[in-house]
Amino acid sequence: MLTDELREKLIEAALEARRWAYAPYSGYSVGAALLTASGRIYDGVNVENASYPNTICAERVAVFKAVSEGEREFIAIAVVTSNGGAPCGACRQVLSEFGFDTIVLIADERRNLVAETTVGELLPRAFRKEQVVKETRASV
Ligand code: THU
Repeated sequence: MLTDELREKLIEAALEARRWAYAPYSGYSVGAALLTASGRIYDGVNVENASYPNTICAERVAVFKAVSEGEREFIAIAVVTSNGGAPCGACRQVLSEFGFDTIVLIADERRNLVAETTVGELLPRAFRKEQVVKETRASV
């Protein structure tokens, strides 16, 4: 489904974006690149804050950029860090809102593909939006 060319393109885009990471506190720069069904790529970086919990991860920045431009169908997301770190739990949950089949490419800064997986594999037994919708309807 994902060609080698697209895989490399996404990792490259995440690597490129990573230079804009704002990570003065952790020193851990993260770049993400999200491919949508329309063929566009939205990138993102982590943006830290002196009030630490207000930090946002690169993956969520990429998702929010895409959604705020009208995109809701995701094909794949690449995440690049120094050492091939995996997306955190919050990012997995946010990604899952838009589909469990989204491919997740985890790579390091030397472009090594550490893992290729899916949101569904990364988030088993997820809390699903269908559950909220049913509850809402039931209480009307
Ligand atoms: N970080 C991400 O950007 N994505 C993740 O999935 C894990 C963590 C960032 C948040 C923080 O700026 C730094 O990495 C260290 O936790």
